Amino acid sequence: MENRFTTLPKLAQSRWVLALGVGLAAVLALAIFASTPVAPAAAQDDIPPLAPLPPVSAPSDNPVTLEKVELGRLLFFDPRMSGDGSMSCNSCHPAATGWGVQTAISFGGPGTSHWRNAQTLLNVAYYSKLNWDGGKKSIEQQNGGAWGGAVAGNLDKALAEERLAQIPEYVERFRDLFGSQYPLWDDALRAVATYQRTLVSQNAPLDAYLEGDDSALSDEAKRGLELFNDKAGCINCHNGPLVSDDRYYALGVPQNPDFLDSPLKQITFRYEFAAKGVPEEVYRTASEDYGLYFVTKQAEDIGKFRTPSLRDLCYTGPYMHDGVFQTLEEVVTFYNAGGGDNPNKDPRIVPLGLSEEEQADLLAMLESLCGDQVTDESPELPPYGEFVFPDEEK
Ligand code: HEC
Ligand code: HEC
Repeated sequence: MENRFTTLPKLAQSRWVLALGVGLAAVLALAIFASTPVAPAAAQDDIPPLAPLPPVSAPSDNPVTLEKVELGRLLFFDPRMSGDGSMSCNSCHPAATGWGVQTAISFGGPGTSHWRNAQTLLNVAYYSKLNWDGGKKSIEQQNGGAWGGAVAGNLDKALAEERLAQIPEYVERFRDLFGSQYPLWDDALRAVATYQRTLVSQNAPLDAYLEGDDSALSDEAKRGLELFNDKAGCINCHNGPLVSDDRYYALGVPQNPDFLDSPLKQITFRYEFAAKGVPEEVYRTASEDYGLYFVTKQAEDIGKFRTPSLRDLCYTGPYMHDGVFQTLEEVVTFYNAGGGDNPNKDPRIVPLGLSEEEQADLLAMLESLCGDQVTDESPELPPYGEFVFPDEEK
């Protein structure tokens, strides 16, 4: 199959294609990647140090191919993949601006609100579970909920398959890729997940520094890195190449005042509790997001959320599961004060005693994790075709 990117001249200049090239090369490389660089300020022995991201790996039943990325990209931008045809993944994860809604709490599908901050899709390939509470086991599974879920795409599976079947270019692409006569929902999920596996952070100055380029960081950022690894203790949870340990903690992040301020948000909030199998006496009275509790139903997990990556934060605000902090200064102030209130708060979240200067250094370090902006724009979407009875096909 030809490489359709080469036939899309508008895209030829796009940084995304470059990024995709790099991302794909990373994904496809069977490379033995060289020994993990060691962070200059040594972290404790059992904590993986910060390091550049390794190549992405994909599940064995859904390997990454360029053709699948191209199909997934079309589907990602296609609003016909929502119940009323008005919304695509890109509506809530805009490829042009950080891959996440920039309001604190995301809007929902028409007539609904969401109840959490929409995370960036950058580096989702590296998490073992998806969503702030780890409620989804794979990108494919997460995306099924995104297309089908009542407060997102609200798309019925059979309706989706029939829509795709009426778009000749999709029929052809699905046939070439998956061998089915007509497009299938699960294959659409395989394709759109594959596209996301190419969305990988690029060229953070900190990576260059960790690979030996001493000039890549300012003195401020170097001091910030030491604080991150030591006095401020960030490395305890934000570690390894992803700058996340992929685990769940309560920090006592304050509830966003927006959270419960409208009937629409109240509806989604109670509905999500009910849909996640929480007993009625809990969900009628709850006033905060329970996070990991939804997955485990253990009281000690109330208020725990997944440690997010700290890569490319300059593009992905606002911050935290409820988007309560607009700026990184607010986040650092929050940690310096010892976090917020929660009975399950992690014991390492304590007042840090960082001076103004140290806080500025820490911010400079966080900024050094910000690389080239990975963006994309909607490709031209294939139109519906004229209906053809199967026996008229040649
Ligand atoms: C109506 C807005 C909306 C739409 C449409 C939507 N999303 Fe999301 N998405 C969100 C929100 C909000 C979250 C956070 C949910 C949570 O953590 O519980 C999220 C979470 C995710 C995550 C998890 C990221 C992580 O770091 O764990 C992925 C992946 C994702 N969305 C991909 C998609 C894809 C692909 C589509 C289209 C198939 C899509 N989303 C459509 C709002 C939306
Ligand atoms: C005990 C583990 C832990 C430690 C230590 C920790 N974090 Fe976090 N961090 C988290 C978790 C969990 C979240 C998400 C919390 C939420 O949404 O409720 C988070 C969220 C963040 C965010 C928001 C990212 C986003 O995309 O929304 C930033 C920025 C951040 N941390 C920076 C830091 C810094 C800087 C330090 C050191 C001062 C630090 N963290 C220490 C676990 C930790």
